Amino acid sequence: MKIDWRGKAIEVRDIGTGPTVVLVHGYPLDGGMWSGVARVLASEFHVVKPDLPGRPENPAPPDGKIETYADFLAAIVAASQGPVGVAGFSMGGYAALALLRTRPAGISALALLDTRASSDDAEGRAKRDEAIAAVETGGPEAVADAMVPKLLSEAARAKADVVERVRRTILRQKPETLKSDLTAMRDRPDQTAFVREITIPTLVIAGALDAITPPGPARAMAESIPGARFVEIPEAGHASPIEKPKAVAAALADFFRASLPG
Ligand code: MLT
Repeated sequence: MKIDWRGKAIEVRDIGTGPTVVLVHGYPLDGGMWSGVARVLASEFHVVKPDLPGRPENPAPPDGKIETYADFLAAIVAASQGPVGVAGFSMGGYAALALLRTRPAGISALALLDTRASSDDAEGRAKRDEAIAAVETGGPEAVADAMVPKLLSEAARAKADVVERVRRTILRQKPETLKSDLTAMRDRPDQTAFVREITIPTLVIAGALDAITPPGPARAMAESIPGARFVEIPEAGHASPIEKPKAVAAALADFFRASLPG
């Protein structure tokens, strides 16, 4: 589908027909991370898997603000027909929450995968600054070296094709985009009070072995969201949609089937 955002025409990748589900990628990835999940969901949903600004398929410049990513997503929601479901993975979850908080119109259901509502503490912010410095000196290669072990479980790291796919995705990102993501995550607002006020159906998913956003806090976040469901994906690390696409797609399909009128 084509959308207009801030004066630019942007082609956004979509497949399938049915109620619209927007899949929002995390750091340091792009919309390609959703391929396995999108293939399954496309049999009953119109699946949109955008690249956030600054990625290979999105020429809009990134500006280091999570609200800008949310504003871009709002343009996709506005361009979609009927009720829309939004699923955000990790940084995509931070953006999805910012979207729902600031521009809720048209969004009927929310899925939060391997993410959190809290902001970075002082130690977390200092680590973002170190990561920004590492991008400046080592580029995407340094990010790939640092992130692959954190994104994937041990079992997934033993699969050469999975590691290769994740590395390839990271290496095609521009340094300024990676720095924008890190700045946006470092400066994102705390959304723990907001999630207690969510009134639309919400699903929280976490990989059982997630080392970045562990399942314990994810379950606690789900318990703080009125009526939210929680699903743990067995044997999956942080990148659960890449490691276990069928299990993640099944959980998303059950949820969106029940919460998005067809
Ligand atoms: C992500 O997967 O999007 C990021 O690793 C999340 C984070 O670092 O907070």
